[in-house]
Amino acid sequence: MLRSALLNVMIKAAHKAGRTLKRDFGEVEHLQVSLKGPANFVSAADHRAEEILCAELAAARPGYGFVGEEGGRREGTDQTHTWIVDPLDGTSNFLHGIPHFAISIGLEREGTIVAGLIYNPINDELFTAERGKGAFLNNQRLRVAARKRLGDAVVACGLPHLGRGDLELGNRELAAVQPKVAGLRRFGAASLDLAWVAAGRFDGYWERALSPWDIAAGLILVREAGGFVTDLEQGDTPWISGDVVAGNEAIHRELLALLEAAARA
Ligand code: IPD
Ligand code: CA
Ligand code: CA
Repeated sequence: MLRSALLNVMIKAAHKAGRTLKRDFGEVEHLQVSLKGPANFVSAADHRAEEILCAELAAARPGYGFVGEEGGRREGTDQTHTWIVDPLDGTSNFLHGIPHFAISIGLEREGTIVAGLIYNPINDELFTAERGKGAFLNNQRLRVAARKRLGDAVVACGLPHLGRGDLELGNRELAAVQPKVAGLRRFGAASLDLAWVAAGRFDGYWERALSPWDIAAGLILVREAGGFVTDLEQGDTPWISGDVVAGNEAIHRELLALLEAAARA
C-alpha cells in the first residue's frame, strides 16, 4: 500500500512516541509498589509522548496549529490546519498495567477532519485514514461491520465514574441499550473504541463528555470505513460537542433512537 506524505509524517511521529510509551509501560508495573505510586510517572510519560509528537509534527509541517491534551493549544502561522492529539488515550488502563491504550492524532483542515491515526504501541496496531482514501489497519483496508440488528450487535460505550459524567443519565442509557444488544463493552480508550468500530470489531459505540482529541482521529476512521458518526444530537462535529455515537447506518440509527429516548426520560 502506498501511503501519502502526510500519513508518513503522522506514522513516523506515532512510532517515535510509541516507543517511549511502550518502554514506560514496561516500568509501570514495577512502580505499583513505590511509595508515591505510579500516577506521577504516568503523567510524566504522557507529557513526554506529547512533546515528541508535537516536535515531530512541527518539524514536518511547520506552521500547523497543535491542540494536545497535556499542553493545550499552540497556535500556528497556518490558520487552516490544526493537529488534534491525545498522546496517551486510555490513561487508566496504562496506569493499571492493562495493555489497551493508544496515541491518537487527528488533522483538522478548515473545520473538517481530513486525516486520522490511532496507534496501540503494545500490539503494534496502526489505524490510519485520510479523507476520500479509505481507512486501514496496518496495510489492510477496513470496513465497518455489516450486522444490521442491534440484537446481533456488540456495542462499546463509555461509563460515568467517580468525579466524571452524569451517572443518572448514564444509567438510563445503559438501561435502554443493555437489554437490546448481544453484548456491551467498556474498554477504556475512546480512540480505540472508534478504531474498532471502523475495523468491524464493535458494531457500535457511544460515549458522552469526551474531548476533541478523543474523537478527531477515530471519526475519520469510522467514516472512511463506511460508517456513521455524529454526536447525540445528530450533529456532524462530535469532536466539538464531545458526545459521540458511531456504527454502520442501521446500528447508528438504532442506537441514536434509544439514547435520545433515554435522555428525554
Ligand atoms: C479517556 C479514555 C476513556 C474515556 C474517557 C477519556 P484519557 O481518555 O478515552 O475511554 O471514557 O472519558 O477521557 O484520559 O485516558 O486520555
Ligand atoms: Ca483521551
Ligand atoms: Ca490522554
